[in-house]
Amino acid sequence: MNLTFTEEQLAVKEAAKEFAETELLPGVIERDEKEIFPAEQVRKMGEMGFMGMMVSPEYGGGGMDTISYVLAMTEICKVDASCGVVMSVNNSLVCWGLEKYGSEEQRQKYLAPLAKGEVIGAFCLSEPEAGSDATSQRTTAEDKGDYYLINGTKNWITNGNSAGTYIVYAQTDKEKRHHGINAFIVTRDMPGFVIGKKEKKLGIRGSDTHSLMFTDVKVPKENRIGEDGFGFKLAMGVLNGGRIGIAAQALGIATGAFERSLKYSKERKAFGVEISKHQAIAFKLADMATNIEASRLLILNAARLKDAKKDYTKASAMAKLFASQTAMDVTIEAIQIHGGYGYVKEYHVERMMRDAKITQIYEGTSEIQKIVISRDLLK
Ligand code: CAA
Repeated sequence: MNLTFTEEQLAVKEAAKEFAETELLPGVIERDEKEIFPAEQVRKMGEMGFMGMMVSPEYGGGGMDTISYVLAMTEICKVDASCGVVMSVNNSLVCWGLEKYGSEEQRQKYLAPLAKGEVIGAFCLSEPEAGSDATSQRTTAEDKGDYYLINGTKNWITNGNSAGTYIVYAQTDKEKRHHGINAFIVTRDMPGFVIGKKEKKLGIRGSDTHSLMFTDVKVPKENRIGEDGFGFKLAMGVLNGGRIGIAAQALGIATGAFERSLKYSKERKAFGVEISKHQAIAFKLADMATNIEASRLLILNAARLKDAKKDYTKASAMAKLFASQTAMDVTIEAIQIHGGYGYVKEYHVERMMRDAKITQIYEGTSEIQKIVISRDLLK
């Protein structure tokens, strides 16, 4: 495995770092507190090319590899994980799937605006009774000849009210179980499509998470992605790559909290010396740094396999499982190192701890990652 980055990859990392520090850091605490969607920041992320990084330039994307995407995602999430999830869903779950599995017509019409960040995408798989158990889709898509009629409810949809293009999963043939699921491109102007309530969340509070309701939404047949019954394979396929993005988000949160803790520990004095000189703190820093480095290597390995077009199912699940646990552990320790200051908003680390928790839940809980890993080991 080559562990050195190319000049292009390093340039992307630097651009993302600078962007995060100048554009995302100001106001990040207020956006979290008041649950303000970072519309202006996301618009600028589109201009910078962060919304469709891996999409080919032919469709308005950056034509970059997964490693560059991981590096950029980590830098963005070191500062603002809410912006990170908007970016991750758009890049991995929407653009990547559309480019790989969409028709030429779908790519021309829907992918280009998404890749340029002119339109935001949403991935609509989860339902009130189908979260981890994603094959149990209750939303239906009745085949009516030249169109489908969609009915049902989706839950916890990232970018729920800020998106323009929604990839909606629905059951067309119940008898066929997951082989009867289809994925459709739905736009927010389609009659019968209603954006439901906004969730009030523990973390990533700048991102907007909504329920969505579909009542007799007429979706043209040409908006189905892939062959009839391909939907669940599409969902699993994009989630394998999405999990690399969420692992990078977790790594970003952990790294952001660690860097703040390292700096603070060299400034804050207790018992006459900087607290970093107390072994109790120094050992915490050592554990944090080690787990961060292990996460980074697992993520880069998954990204490397994806770029090499090898199977990365197990690698991406391992990366997400480990990096999300690391994000939780590191952010909790970051608060401990900051003491009373860590418990208040100005020092950022309490927000990072709240943001970290979701990385163990969305795009497959840690328990689901263990299912994916163990099934791969035992197959
Ligand atoms: N990659 C490719 N294919 C996969 C797969 C993977 N990781 N996991 C399962 N599959 C395939 C199986 O091979 C099988 O296909 P065939 O029948 O054609 O062989 C099919 O999917 C069904 O799999 P199982 O028979 O194993 O079904 P199951 O019900 O026992 O388990 C599951 C399926 C792995 C648990 C799956 O439901 C799952 O991944 N659940 C988690 C869903 C999830 O990640 N949701 C995230 C929501 S989106 C989100 O969070 C976005 C956001 O807001 C940021």
